[in-house]
Amino acid sequence: MGEAGALVLFGITGDLARKMLLPALYHLTAESRLDLPIIGVAKTDMDLDGLRDFARQACGGPDDAAFEKLAGNLRLVSGDYRDPATFAELREQTEGKGFLVHYLAVPPVLFSVVAEGLAGAGLNHEARLVVEKPFGEDLGSARELNAELLKYFDEDHLRRVDHFLGKEPVEDLMVFRFANMLLEPIWNRAHIRSIQITMAEDFDVRDRGGFYDANGTIRDVVQNHLLQLLAILAMDPPPSTDARAQLDEKWRVLRAVQAIQPTDVVRGQYAGYLDTPGVRSGSTTETYVALRAYIDNWRWAGVPWCIRSGKALPTTDLEIVAELLRPPVTMFGSDGAPDSPNLIRFRLQPDAGVTFDLLAKEPGKMHARPVPVSVDFTKVLGPMEAAYERILADAISGDPRRFARFDLVEESWRIVQPVLDLPEQPLPYTKGSWGPEPAEDIAPGGWHEISTTFD
Ligand code: BG6
Repeated sequence: MGEAGALVLFGITGDLARKMLLPALYHLTAESRLDLPIIGVAKTDMDLDGLRDFARQACGGPDDAAFEKLAGNLRLVSGDYRDPATFAELREQTEGKGFLVHYLAVPPVLFSVVAEGLAGAGLNHEARLVVEKPFGEDLGSARELNAELLKYFDEDHLRRVDHFLGKEPVEDLMVFRFANMLLEPIWNRAHIRSIQITMAEDFDVRDRGGFYDANGTIRDVVQNHLLQLLAILAMDPPPSTDARAQLDEKWRVLRAVQAIQPTDVVRGQYAGYLDTPGVRSGSTTETYVALRAYIDNWRWAGVPWCIRSGKALPTTDLEIVAELLRPPVTMFGSDGAPDSPNLIRFRLQPDAGVTFDLLAKEPGKMHARPVPVSVDFTKVLGPMEAAYERILADAISGDPRRFARFDLVEESWRIVQPVLDLPEQPLPYTKGSWGPEPAEDIAPGGWHEISTTFD
């Protein structure tokens, strides 16, 4: 598994390249972590100078040595992905460059088309294939796609991107869990009442109506990003630090997650969604979901894992709240009410850190009151790397741990399969609200308000 001699970027003139990949390549170059030929492939009228201008704009218009170096490394192959001539030209451009990393920032229908084209030109040997999400649209299609790709690249040379795995705060979860002895003894059904994962976005589907309508929230973020979070939070400690040990543990815990039942799901659609360009009339696609999952193993049996996510919600936040069981006897409740539970909050976005909601004596009274004890990781530990910088660096070096191994992808599709494409119209909700009201009942005792900031 070699370090790459060149990066081949399919879809270099597309949205993902413009918003994420080119800026990440520029930062990696500026940090002297990247200096290799980058051969863009796209069906475009641009010439190489045009591509360099496009890249400069994508990177915010820098005018420094790092950008000059990146621009100097850029090459362009323009052509159709179904035309063998495109791959013949790519072969010429990559001749003698050594190990190749083919990064496919193209629509999923083209994944196998490009893989076949690469193989036709002999560009699948000494090479790795990296594909963006979504990987399939259900369990069956994911298996078909995988079988197609395996004809040309074996699993060791395939990487499936889930950019959440490149986020430092997501990795913080694992470090926090396994580097501190504080958490592990209570991180189980004997002490935890429920876990709540909230991924809220305050914007609507914007100009992605066509893409979003074919997917919906469960396919867009639950099957991949949020089940990856669940796996990291719920897995047992891996027996070693190597990538395989981590991936195996995630797989073991996902295997134990029950397939989600329609009765454990509330789906919503914000008012006005049906007027979005690209959305089918009468579409039953959800823009919001709240669901409960259960894990059938000794650590978690009976503990609800509650996940909610949606577009057009009041805020853009990613937060996990673990609610601990209350003490068996209430000693300090006010007016006969039980004490508030202890909460452990992991904030992942927009800032990162952890808050323990502990209980302390209310001055002058014999009551307990929750007091937050917080650490803002960015303040204490400094700035974090962007997810796509790490994804690209790993795509180039070959480290598999921040990618979705196929057996994990399969388990995630199995888990959501019964609630994909439910025939009922999702419940309406107003933009800027927390989704349809019945979603409140998905979490035992309701959803905890998320903390939104450390200040
Ligand atoms: C993408 C989804 O995978 O993740 C988007 O397609 C979502 O709908 C995005 O907005 C969220 O990612 P991030 O990194 O901006 O939180």
